[in-house]
Amino acid sequence: MKQGLFITFEGADGTGKTTQIAKVASWLREQGYEVVCTREPGGTKAAERIRELVLDAELAISHKTETLLYLAARADHITQLIRPALQAGKIVLCDRFSDSTFVYQGSGRGVELQTLKMLDDFATSSLHPDLTILLDGEPEELAIRRNARGVVDRFELEGLAFQKKIREAFLALAASEPTRIHVIDALQSEENILDEILTDLQRLLAK
Ligand code: TMP
Repeated sequence: MKQGLFITFEGADGTGKTTQIAKVASWLREQGYEVVCTREPGGTKAAERIRELVLDAELAISHKTETLLYLAARADHITQLIRPALQAGKIVLCDRFSDSTFVYQGSGRGVELQTLKMLDDFATSSLHPDLTILLDGEPEELAIRRNARGVVDRFELEGLAFQKKIREAFLALAASEPTRIHVIDALQSEENILDEILTDLQRLLAK
């Protein structure tokens, strides 16, 4: 493999992205691939610092500031970690990426999509995922999972109506890019979710 593969995982909080990424990574490593697991916001020293800032619910920041912080974190992540890994032929599994910006800052915060796409292109130098797995589930069910986990960040303080809007926006995005974005039911068993992801992945690896 000359150029690696870039696979992103998207979905509302509580859809089990992190668990699935770990399982997919071990499967890929068993097949002999070199894998890098990372997340957004974060993945590099600077981007993890930005993560602390942007997810701190006690800091009152504007939607513009929030958007630019996510994109600043992404620019560093791409330059320092994602692009070098892809150039070394590795498979990069990333927990959230540009689609989260289009959904949370676009549909969630009302920032114009055209502006977001332009800023995102600038931050990523137009690097797009080869495959995006969207883990989708009813917001009510996901809220039960989140409460069990006990973590509260800026978005987790938003109500159910906000989570429903986020879900609809993710599904609309998936419908507009069906070749790249694959929707998987997040409320089925972890084994079934993994099976579906691995089917998609095997198809991609066979190309
Ligand atoms: P996480 O809890 O899945 O790591 O994601 C952190 C939060 O950041 C999550 O609520 C979604 C939000 N987010 C955005 O609003 N915009 C973005 O561009 C990214 C990457 C995440």
